Amino acid sequence: MVGKIIGTGSYIPEKYLDNNDLAQIIETSDKWIRERTGIIRRHVVETETTVSMAAAAADNALQNSGIHADEVELILLCTVSSDVILPSAACEVQQRIGAVNATAFDLNAACAGFVFAYVMAQGYIAAKIYRTILIIGSESLSKLVDWKDRGTCILFGDGAGAAVIRAAAGQRYLPVTGSDGESGLSLTLKSRFWQEDAAARSYIGMDGQAIFKFAVKKVPQAIRGVLKKNRINPRTIDWFILHQANQRIIDAVIKRLGISEDKFPSNVAEYGNTSSASIPILLDEMVQKGLLEKGQKIVLAGFGAGLSWGAVVLKW
Ligand code: COA
Repeated sequence: MVGKIIGTGSYIPEKYLDNNDLAQIIETSDKWIRERTGIIRRHVVETETTVSMAAAAADNALQNSGIHADEVELILLCTVSSDVILPSAACEVQQRIGAVNATAFDLNAACAGFVFAYVMAQGYIAAKIYRTILIIGSESLSKLVDWKDRGTCILFGDGAGAAVIRAAAGQRYLPVTGSDGESGLSLTLKSRFWQEDAAARSYIGMDGQAIFKFAVKKVPQAIRGVLKKNRINPRTIDWFILHQANQRIIDAVIKRLGISEDKFPSNVAEYGNTSSASIPILLDEMVQKGLLEKGQKIVLAGFGAGLSWGAVVLKW
């Protein structure tokens, strides 16, 4: 028994800020941002919230999978930017979409979140605990960045993506996942409730170069690792869907793996880094464009704060 993705969905806020908009508020330029990151625009919430985007992406995924909300047995919602803590964002989504038979909870694994949720979903399905699982990544990172910090605010964006996973006959693949708490201080966000000064706000803090080095080393290792573990020839993989952090990271991974760049779709130019939402947004975009064909083998790879990383193989 394996969990198959039977439907995907996404939600992107209409409003966006392009690099020239940012150059109005911080000392930067379109050229600098494009060259260092490949990012041109990032979409940002107006009236939307992390919960509302998650629910919209979930509705979309349910519709595309052709199942009713009451068939969902588990909702895993990955986020680091929820507008609610109690109840969990997942419970709020459960209520909004009418998934009355689902158990629901949140998962924080930052930009590795969607891959970790996928691995959890496969575990629940293999153990025959749940058969139909909705996994969602939803982020409002525009609320967590310091818009005066040009080293971070240029990178992040908002949005949500979701996938419905259902038990089916088929081959199971083992994942590769890991965390390195020792290096955790290179990407941080302190909870606002623990600030000495209650009025002080905390924002995403990042050692950009440390994260860059971590990503270009760990992601190829995780991808090679997951292919070796499952005895799969890298050439037989049709798509490598990476967390969309930065085009330079994606390009460095392509170079290290020595695989054709055509197999690495990217939409970071349009959305920036949407953390746990980036992989399901890209997956849904590929479905909408008709790029995914039955039987194709796909690698998903996520990485980010924790530091954490993970790679999985799936058959479409
Ligand atoms: N516009 C113009 N100049 C900027 C800038 C901006 N938006 N941000 C930083 N700079 C400046 C710095 O102040 C520095 O100036 P200085 O040399 O006068 O001190 C210079 O550019 C170089 O800064 P540096 O941080 O060394 O740049 P970089 O080449 O490492 O690029 C990142 C910065 C953030 C683009 C890069 O480190 C990166 O992509 N890291 C990975 C981040 C990431 O993906 N995080 C999420 C992972 S899930």
